[in-house]
Amino acid sequence: MPVIKAFDLAFGRISAPDLDRMEAFLTDFGMIRAERTKRALYMRGSDAAHHIHVTETGEPRFIGVALAAGSFEDLEKLARLEGASKIEDIDEPGGGKRVRLCDPDGHRVEVVHGIETLEPIPVTRPAVNCGNDKTRRKGALFRVLRGPSQVKRFGHFVLMSRNFERVVAWYRETLGFLPSDEVYSGEKNHLVGSFNRLDRGGEFVDHHAFFCIRGEKEGLNHLSFEARDIDDIMIGHEHMAAKGYRHVWGIGRHLLGSQVFDYWADPWGRVFEHWADTDVLDASARPQLNEAGAALDGPWGEPIPASFMGHATP
Ligand SMILES: [Fe+2]
Repeated sequence: MPVIKAFDLAFGRISAPDLDRMEAFLTDFGMIRAERTKRALYMRGSDAAHHIHVTETGEPRFIGVALAAGSFEDLEKLARLEGASKIEDIDEPGGGKRVRLCDPDGHRVEVVHGIETLEPIPVTRPAVNCGNDKTRRKGALFRVLRGPSQVKRFGHFVLMSRNFERVVAWYRETLGFLPSDEVYSGEKNHLVGSFNRLDRGGEFVDHHAFFCIRGEKEGLNHLSFEARDIDDIMIGHEHMAAKGYRHVWGIGRHLLGSQVFDYWADPWGRVFEHWADTDVLDASARPQLNEAGAALDGPWGEPIPASFMGHATP
């Protein structure tokens, strides 16, 4: 049994030397400022989470991720682990409590509870008249406006590690992650990637909240955020391209997890993904084993750039 079963992802935390530039990027990416202090920027999506991304002032660096515990008792369990902090009051906008842990590669993992929520931002998207029901949009005219994507929530984080087995085991044993799809190269027991989802029992959750890549570097491969729908990915792409940001990969559909995706680099080269339409699994699904070459070829879209799986920002 894991120490706890984390309930959800909360936010990613990175640093950047220029919060104005970071806020402009994240705003164009489709987030909204929740709060900004002298030393940090807190951005939200349209869902109720107070923030889904934190940027601290400093040299560009990946600091870590935060996950939400399902109960205060889960924080107590984590605080008893060797190397864990005690339960702390979070001295940041939104408040709440947290325990700070360190994963085997030294990334900070905050497990939080009781952070204030905000009123969700209403987002209306036209229903889609395709498939068997062509009357979902009865009498209404389809008028989608240009602009940034409308980011809903923090969907997953992807780390590269030289200590692949230790890192994957740590996230599973500490936070209850379950394997959804695993990827091998050469021998079937030589895993090079592992997609892991949250364990909420019979409740269906995203195919992965954490993907780990075996690699020569240690660090962040990308942070990923759910957009409203497939149109929203396309609209966001046009907006980011018009603003001159560096495009990394997309648009396409992944084979494993099946999301429609699009990847962009922030001004310091950190990669941010938009996705929509994921597979969802409950805790009973058995992990699948996939060969690396075929597994990374989606059914359509731009092929994976050679550099993508080797990308990690410290
Ligand atoms: Fe992703």
